[in-house]
Amino acid sequence: MQIAVFSARPYDRRFLDEANQRGAAEQDFAFVYFDASLDLHTATLAQDCDAVCVFVNDRLDAPVLQALHAQGVHAVLLRCAGFNNVDLAAATSLGLFVARVPAYSPEAVAEHALALVMTLNRQTHRAYNRVREGNFMLDGLLGHTLHGRTVGIVGTGKIGVATARIFKGLGCTVLGHDPYPSASFAGLGENVALAKLLSRADIVSLHCPLTADTHHLINDASLAQMKAGAMLVNTSRGGLVDTHAVIRALKSRRLGHLAIDVYEQESALFFQDLSGEIIDDEAFQRLMTFPNVLVTGHQGFFTVEALQEISAITLGNLADFAAGRACANRVEAG
Ligand code: NAI
Repeated sequence: MQIAVFSARPYDRRFLDEANQRGAAEQDFAFVYFDASLDLHTATLAQDCDAVCVFVNDRLDAPVLQALHAQGVHAVLLRCAGFNNVDLAAATSLGLFVARVPAYSPEAVAEHALALVMTLNRQTHRAYNRVREGNFMLDGLLGHTLHGRTVGIVGTGKIGVATARIFKGLGCTVLGHDPYPSASFAGLGENVALAKLLSRADIVSLHCPLTADTHHLINDASLAQMKAGAMLVNTSRGGLVDTHAVIRALKSRRLGHLAIDVYEQESALFFQDLSGEIIDDEAFQRLMTFPNVLVTGHQGFFTVEALQEISAITLGNLADFAAGRACANRVEAG
């Protein structure tokens, strides 16, 4: 069975090949790697392939899925948890098998959220540069003691719970907001209405999926409900945040800090080296001018352990598809 892997970076090749070699005795999978992301133009690269393996910024809308299906592709394997980039109704009506990796080291993303909070709060990125230039002044590096602060977790699923545990361990008061609160959040904090969470939290960390309901969950109105000077952290999906509203809140000095690992228009920027290019995204460039904004390029998942799990689970999903078995990680419309 031949699989076209889109948006393939060197680390994708390494971990998928390693997982494939481990299971080589029982399965015969040949991966063909493409640097390009999947869209209507690149879909033809999957010719002669039985399946495609994709990541967060590959586009799997109805025309792309139809093009893949017409070429004989029968399966879509997501190397990620979120599937907001797949038109599931179209995939289901075409009879395509779609499977994801629902959980892989939720702690990896939670720890990255912590890294963002710690960096922005204590300005370690600025301290690093200052000290290397022989500047040992402390002005501008003042942070808060996190012990005793209130952290609001929006979405108390696997990653939200892992994040709540970390902040509880630091001595923070943890609040959660989730329409379907998980049993594992009980004992870590109180599940409250979103308005209450926003009005009480010194740090708001987003961990809910991107859906029609959560699109621009953080907007002018919700930002106005947040405590003045609070920190907003988004390691979930860029579309949860209205970037223009956040820029307004930063300009008015109401939002104290912003840390994002995801960005609504990230597909044009992330996972590429654009250091020699002119970046046309005005909103992104404006964000870069604020000293109290920290952006990382969707690296929350990027640990050895998480990549090993992603590859192993992707191979398992593929093996289920190849054997015609039921697959627990299959996603379908409805
Ligand atoms: P999960 O499915 O375990 O938890 C999501 C939680 O959000 C659920 O408990 C659900 O009830 C809740 N939720 C749904 N609608 C909500 C709403 N309107 N308000 C508040 N909560 C709501 O998912 P998991 O594994 O914790 O992942 C969370 C998100 O993290 C994923 O959807 C994905 O977008 C993102 N992610 C980001 C990564 C990165 O590298 N930065 C890596 C992996 C996931």
